[in-house]
Amino acid sequence: MTNEQGNPAGTAIGTVQLGTGGPEVGVQGLGCMGMSWAYGPTDGDEARATLERALELGVTLFDTADVYGDGENEKFLAPFVRAHRDEIVLATKFALANDPQDPTKRIIRNDRPYLRQAVEGSLRRLGVEQIDLYYMHRRDESVPLEETVGAMAELVAEGKVKYLGLSEVTAAELRAAQAVHPITAVQSEWSLFSRDIEESVVPAAAELGVALVPYSPLGRGFLTGAFVRAEQELAADDFRRQQPRFTGENAAANAALLEPVREIAEARNATPAQIALAWVQQRAAAHGLAVVPIPGTRKRGRLEENTAATRIELTADELARLEPIAGKVAGERYADMRFTSAGRE
Ligand SMILES: NC(=O)c1ccc[n+]([C@@H]2O[C@H](COP(=O)([O-])OP(=O)(O)OC[C@H]3O[C@@H](n4cnc5c(N)ncnc54)[C@H](OP(=O)(O)O)[C@@H]3O)[C@@H](O)[C@H]2O)c1
Repeated sequence: MTNEQGNPAGTAIGTVQLGTGGPEVGVQGLGCMGMSWAYGPTDGDEARATLERALELGVTLFDTADVYGDGENEKFLAPFVRAHRDEIVLATKFALANDPQDPTKRIIRNDRPYLRQAVEGSLRRLGVEQIDLYYMHRRDESVPLEETVGAMAELVAEGKVKYLGLSEVTAAELRAAQAVHPITAVQSEWSLFSRDIEESVVPAAAELGVALVPYSPLGRGFLTGAFVRAEQELAADDFRRQQPRFTGENAAANAALLEPVREIAEARNATPAQIALAWVQQRAAAHGLAVVPIPGTRKRGRLEENTAATRIELTADELARLEPIAGKVAGERYADMRFTSAGRE
């Protein structure tokens, strides 16, 4: 595939500094969660080849978390990480775990003893001595944020972690954390369908020099048109079957919102996925902050398609056509909004 500038999909992507004082990384990262968890069956060989291809194309930020498959995703990544330790920026997360009483539910832990245990588990499974970017995955309001970030800062002092990140925090939480220790990146959902962070989190990150790492920039695949009704089209254990936007009447109404995305893609000889990714990159530029979206894929062809999107520049007219979409989306982005920063604001 080529985009309209004629750049072949195999061309390496550019780089950006991940927040003030942060590492230089490829302008698009790779979300690895689906390689072991949440999105149905995986071809392991193809997923491993996708990791190698990503690096060839200049993708250097690789994203995982201890909760993804209860440590399985970190273990899956370990051989790749060890083979390319100095070429990649390895990001993982703590704080979210599967509830031992009910595996369909998640628990959140921000306390210091839990963190100390979690980091040792991630280091062991990944087979590394240091995690490059360590995120607090979710906020547990029963623990003072200063205490958690203070404990995370100890890990930096001890050399177990290089940079700190936060996921799904409010602007106030980001400011409070930054007062304890420099925060390199905030990871939150940001896409054509999910723009709540633009109100206060994104401006705060821009002001503080913190990079934004948008997760699910393809709306968990929905924005690509790959599926519509999760409960009819996706595997029985696929996480997306629990998400209000992708099920029932919401799914059909939301699929109709993708018409301008499809039209713009067609006119540019691009794909809807590429338009969605180009949009995130350009929204961040409008806010004046560094951004490294981490679309998730387990397939080389899609990875090449996604990285080629970094060379697409949407026009003001195209951006205007995409602008109203988020405001019309039916359904929340999580069944339980307490798992989001918006749910706490
Ligand atoms: N911090 C958090 O709370 C949080 C939450 C969710 C995710 N994340 C991270 O963010 C990463 C990305 O988010 P995500 O995986 O949820 O959603 P996403 O990147 O929006 O979408 C991933 C889905 O889209 C499909 N896909 C990818 N490229 C495609 C293309 N070009 N055409 C058609 N389909 C395509 C993938 O399928 P294939 O794999 O089969 O290609 C997968 O099903 C995750 O891997 C994870 O590391 C973080």
